[in-house]
Amino acid sequence: MKAFIPFDLLFLLCLATSALGIENKKRSLRWITKDAALSYLTRDMSNLEEFKALLRPLVVERVSGTAGNKAVQEHIKSYLSNWHVETDTFNDTTPYGVKEFTNIIATFDPSKSTKIVLACHFDSKYFPRGKFVAASDSAVPCGVLLETARQLQCLLEKGPKEKSSASDLTLQLLFLDGEEAFKDWTATDSIYGSRHLAKRWAAEPDPANSSLTRIKSIREFILLDLIGTSDTTIPQHFTSTSELYENLVKAENYLRSKGYLTGKHLGPVFNGQKSWGGIEDDHMPFLNQGVDVVHLISSPFPSVWHQLTDDWDHLDFNLIDDFSRIFRLFISNLLHLQPESRGCRKK
Ligand SMILES: *[C@@H]1O[C@H](CO)[C@@H](O)[C@H](O)[C@H]1NC(C)=O
Ligand SMILES: *[C@@H]1O[C@H](CO)[C@@H](O)[C@H](O)[C@H]1NC(C)=O
Ligand SMILES: [Zn+2]
Repeated sequence: MKAFIPFDLLFLLCLATSALGIENKKRSLRWITKDAALSYLTRDMSNLEEFKALLRPLVVERVSGTAGNKAVQEHIKSYLSNWHVETDTFNDTTPYGVKEFTNIIATFDPSKSTKIVLACHFDSKYFPRGKFVAASDSAVPCGVLLETARQLQCLLEKGPKEKSSASDLTLQLLFLDGEEAFKDWTATDSIYGSRHLAKRWAAEPDPANSSLTRIKSIREFILLDLIGTSDTTIPQHFTSTSELYENLVKAENYLRSKGYLTGKHLGPVFNGQKSWGGIEDDHMPFLNQGVDVVHLISSPFPSVWHQLTDDWDHLDFNLIDDFSRIFRLFISNLLHLQPESRGCRKK
């Protein structure tokens, strides 16, 4: 499960954050509006057949420490040959004994010292009775990250304009293992991978700037979870990153009004509502280290959540396509990419 944080604890967390004097970071986002650029990022880059081929091998049983999980790791890495890839392998004790976990970290340009992290978990929950493939939880979020990396590769290589305030930014993808509890969600039986990585990165210097820890090199931690069914609706969870969430809402509305979404899912995916409660998930160990978070998780949870029906047949590929189109525009705005320039557009 992804437990809801009790309201009083959430309040204490907020107090602790303000007591640490964490200020809102300065971010400047682009707002891309040229039709040729929007058409390129949405329709031109949309290819459901390729996406399904990428996704299929992820929608399998992939419990941490099993051969299925290992195969998924290899599949993920095979899509990241143009990225700087690291693995973080460790053992931890679970209610069923010691298991091995592996996080995969892919950085577009490790020489850049400010990272925008996009994260998902690739393990599936252990179900003693029945075959649980956890399509929305989180095969689709990981698939969307791989697809986004592939589709934006050329734009990322060309980068922002020389004098852009984004010239110090790079994307870092985290494929986290062991998000799911083996039994019941507790502090020690859940989010194995993110707990391990956040702890490690709180002490480890960043390769691009040794006076920063790897945790401090993260400008924001954007976590995707529970995405892919037709009832996916994503509210805002954190005010510290509200301009990022608002860019997603604005991007969705703009693309829909101009006809750049599929038109087959009426949405909205990003409904503009503010969620009052926190949801415990892979962002928690990073949040507790002072990292700004954007939590892109469907709330309420999809109706198939932790049911055997969270499978391929219950995915809504129009919704996933729309989500991916909006997400590509958002990432382009965030990293000041230049989809207007013709360099990448021609086949
Ligand atoms: C985890 O434990 C297993 C069994 O003892 C061992 O073979 C493996 O090398 C360990 N992995 C790590 C990363 O320490
Ligand atoms: C490295 O990080 C420190 C601390 O944030 C900063 O003052 C310094 O300018 C950075 N150096 C480079 C080369 O970016
Ligand atoms: Zn789950």
